[in-house]
Amino acid sequence: MQMAAHTGSHLFGPLLARQCLRCRAPLRQRSCAYSVVPPPLDSEEKRMLDRFLRVDHAGEYGANRIYAGQMAVLGRSRTGPLIQEMWDQEKKHLQKFNEILAESRVRPTALLPFWNIAGFALGASTALLGKEWAMACTVAVEESISEHYNSQIRALMERDPERYTELLHVLKEFRDDEMEHHDTGLEHEAESVPGYWLVKNVIQLGCKAAIYASERI
Ligand SMILES: [Fe+2]
Ligand SMILES: [Fe+2]
Repeated sequence: MQMAAHTGSHLFGPLLARQCLRCRAPLRQRSCAYSVVPPPLDSEEKRMLDRFLRVDHAGEYGANRIYAGQMAVLGRSRTGPLIQEMWDQEKKHLQKFNEILAESRVRPTALLPFWNIAGFALGASTALLGKEWAMACTVAVEESISEHYNSQIRALMERDPERYTELLHVLKEFRDDEMEHHDTGLEHEAESVPGYWLVKNVIQLGCKAAIYASERI
């Protein structure tokens, strides 16, 4: 158990670190030649992993652009530091997926230029309506991303939890961060916007379409 806790706590540390960055306990020496994703055994597994990683990277990229849009409008408001805090975590998520994509030789989705504009526009336009609208957007998006990570975690657990231990660590840690962002949105009056249910469902429909497209293009 202690080993597992330590491997999960240094996701962003250098691969050759010898000690846990938090408690300085010795880390497990890696016996495998990869850091997160095992080399695919066949073309079917490669297709699955490519699809998973491509859409996860796209999701983190889109989330970064949404928070960038929110900060462009609300950066100097009292909500600015809170949004910045969530954005900083998204930056780490994106950085990790950039590394994983490079290591696994997976190309990013061709839709990144579109998500660049669409994400920023969604973040900025909801923020222009007020901080509660920005939080409603955060709740909708973060709930979609958490559910998406959960479905990948389930699929990998059913397939072979031992084989995907490192990837599962990353996905679970990021899923927990997204749930925290979701809860932060709820704590900051997301549900007070008029037509909250409709707003949330429209944004989540967009997220589903974005996930569907990013897995395939
Ligand atoms: Fe994220
Ligand atoms: Fe998030």
